[in-house]
Amino acid sequence: MAHLLRFITCGSVDDGKSTLIGRLLYDSKMVFDDQLSALERDSKAVGTQNGALDFALLMDGLAAEREQGITIDVAYRFFSTGARTFIVADTPGHEQYTRNMITGASTADLAVILIDARRGVLTQTRRHSFLVSLMGIRKVVLAVNKMDLIAYDQAAFDRICADYRAFARQIGLDAVSAIPMSALKGDNVTARSTAMNWYDGPTLIQHLETVETVERPHEAPFRLCVQWVNRPDLSFRGFAGTVASGEIRPGDSVRVLPSGRDARVARLVTHDGDLTHAAAGQSVTLTLDHEIDIARGDVLASPLDPPAVADQFNTTIIWMSEDPLLPGRPYLVKIGTKTVTGTVTSLKHKINVNTLEHLAAKTLTLNEIAEANIQLAQPIAFDPYDKNRETGGFIVIDRMTNATVDAGLIRFALRRSENIHWQAVEVDKPARANLKHQKACVLWFTGLSGAGKSTIANALEKKLFGLGRHTYLLDGDNVRHGLNRDLGFTDADRVENIRRVAEVSKLMVDAGLIVLVSFISPFRAERELARNLLQPGEFFEVFVDTPLVEAEKRDPKGLYKKARRGEIRNFTGISSPYEAPQNPELRIDTSRASADEAADLILRLLTERAMLGGH
Ligand code: ADX
Repeated sequence: MAHLLRFITCGSVDDGKSTLIGRLLYDSKMVFDDQLSALERDSKAVGTQNGALDFALLMDGLAAEREQGITIDVAYRFFSTGARTFIVADTPGHEQYTRNMITGASTADLAVILIDARRGVLTQTRRHSFLVSLMGIRKVVLAVNKMDLIAYDQAAFDRICADYRAFARQIGLDAVSAIPMSALKGDNVTARSTAMNWYDGPTLIQHLETVETVERPHEAPFRLCVQWVNRPDLSFRGFAGTVASGEIRPGDSVRVLPSGRDARVARLVTHDGDLTHAAAGQSVTLTLDHEIDIARGDVLASPLDPPAVADQFNTTIIWMSEDPLLPGRPYLVKIGTKTVTGTVTSLKHKINVNTLEHLAAKTLTLNEIAEANIQLAQPIAFDPYDKNRETGGFIVIDRMTNATVDAGLIRFALRRSENIHWQAVEVDKPARANLKHQKACVLWFTGLSGAGKSTIANALEKKLFGLGRHTYLLDGDNVRHGLNRDLGFTDADRVENIRRVAEVSKLMVDAGLIVLVSFISPFRAERELARNLLQPGEFFEVFVDTPLVEAEKRDPKGLYKKARRGEIRNFTGISSPYEAPQNPELRIDTSRASADEAADLILRLLTERAMLGGH
């Protein structure tokens, strides 16, 4: 018997996807009896087929079962014919469900792409095919459905096939088998159609039963991503995870990445006793012949063909969030079992899924696909996605909402990731700061335009200067005249504005200065980024808390008036958001404190924290 086939069906409900899966399950007798009687009952009551079985109802029933607050919503259905066992990933077909499709596709060997014969190849068809190809599926069945509604017209079928193949070739899908069918009437699904004698290829099920799958994950080099380190007592130390690819036996050598240390496997432990062998897909706890440092997220791999280690990559990403991607913003990147902070450093281009054109992009919106460089906060072990889906695919998580916003595939590591080293210098931050009798730090003033940030920062700098301290004031309006002259006020530009200033303030802290930063800096994520660039205790977030009505009343530069008249777009507080700090080191209520008093408050805080040292 041919080995298990995993496949995914792509198409919208209107294309007849539910009917098709329903029929496959029904004809292979994998529908449970109670579901079947419900189906017969519902078909008579509300079916669209005059009392005959309405398979779409079956799938709708199954869908309702799982609509219970799961975000990634893929139903895996098993069925079996005499010749083969199948797992079909059923994913909701609407545009916003891209993430479900990606999840389903990431483990599939083959995709069935459904087309409504009356409508032909649509944008959605191209999008699905493109995603399928990106996710590494090479075999496609083009199921041209609803042939009954176009009088089983061969010429129409041929046109659709030619149309589709032309597109498929461009995205590397060469193995396309096209089958004309009617899932509703049963033509060419499991039974051969008598209405289309011009078609002499296999039925869908015949094709699925006999199609060869190239992928043999157990032949790929061994990889296991460590899920957790099991250490019940001092005598046992096991590394638990699922074998991502390849196989492993006691006595085999493994390399731990990213550290690069080697050891031999002592035992393969499971709940049901030790194994002599484990292969892709199996969960095991592995023990080693001697102690080496291994943490959750590390990769155990074959030393003969180990993954590479890097921290910058060229990737393909599929953006899956309503909130746009903002290059420069810190996100969480999860690859295998490892989660690290990462940012998109440059968007090379996005891809029009219809024309495959490359388009310039500053941000991505829902469902857009792009080539992008990403940078991680620390090096990780990886394989190119084409070589290994498990260690080459990643997801991106929004740090604020915890939502998965992106799926990505690693193409290759950027050369600079290995060719740029940190240059050690001997005169360091403490040395420079000591010479100035102070501790270097950043005072980060955030608040609305007109809140009083610059006035307070100015007053404070004068006081510090008077005390003989070495300071520098980075002010939004000023920096935007030089370093950040190229940036405007879109979300993407503000992220970049703050990213650069955060890096500059870090350099200035390294120079031993007390740095005052006065920027609206409206987003929490980038203020966090600035904080995380520094050592604990070096970053003071000062929230200059002036309510919008008050800032607008003051309107020192007349900008609020202009913004209200619609003459300035994306104005903070009016047409662009401001995310107030949740735990600032200091909050200044400007309705109570004058600029001078506010400066004294900050001075006191700095003294308390021993930042000013002695003379
Ligand atoms: S930030 O949002 O990117 O941090 P930044 O502090 O650099 O903003 O610049 C804010 C200053 O630019 C404001 O004080 C104001 O003088 C000016 N400005 C011009 N257009 C806008 C706008 N659309 N939104 C906010 N500030 C603006």
